[in-house]
Amino acid sequence: MADPFNSLNQPDNPGDPLDELLTFGNPETRRRFLKKVAGTSAALTLGPSLMNFSSAQGAASPVTMGQQLLVDVHLKINGQDYPLRVDPRTTVLDLLRENLHLTGSKKGCDHGQCGACTVLLNGRRVNSCLTLAVVHDGEEITTIEGLAQGAELHPMQAAFVEHDGFQCGYCTPGQICSAVACVQEGHAGDDAQIREFMSGNLCRCGAYPNIVEAVKEGRDKMGASQKS
Ligand code: FES
Ligand code: FES
Repeated sequence: MADPFNSLNQPDNPGDPLDELLTFGNPETRRRFLKKVAGTSAALTLGPSLMNFSSAQGAASPVTMGQQLLVDVHLKINGQDYPLRVDPRTTVLDLLRENLHLTGSKKGCDHGQCGACTVLLNGRRVNSCLTLAVVHDGEEITTIEGLAQGAELHPMQAAFVEHDGFQCGYCTPGQICSAVACVQEGHAGDDAQIREFMSGNLCRCGAYPNIVEAVKEGRDKMGASQKS
């Protein structure tokens, strides 16, 4: 059973900075993050609440607005550039939903346990509720809103519709983003592999059999679209 708390069921990739971002309890990465927001007493005040999160690289110097510490971060989201100034405690999920009103990514547990918040970060799937926006300066995020090409659904979206890969639909944006990455990783070979590598995305409605069928069809359609 893969570990939903780490890298969304992807195999370990030692040395990848994203793995560091998603690994809890690493004192080295915590130190680097605190350096990021350090230089002000606010950073030290924020520190304890940030100890579950980790490294920071590349974002601009923090500024204060009144009592609030803000950090500049530049993200490319669904192909569009976003120069942003955010509270360093803001998760990617909250940035998307609360600041940018991209509400396709869902907040289920907010603890890295359900996968409803899954987005693609530089092409890799992550639980966006577990990672801070400021540590992704200069990186690319794709959400469910960024998968379709205009009115044309992404092949994986179309496959979920075709196979009724949902009931209430709350988990579906995360399932689809995760499924796209699962296929791109080469982890959608058969039913068992799909179930294993999609196991970080929970469905309270139990639509798993249809989700597996949808992922298989999406995989085949993605393969076809990649060849053409
Ligand atoms: S894993 Fe992020 S909301 Fe559940
Ligand atoms: S369709 Fe309802 S939680 Fe998955």
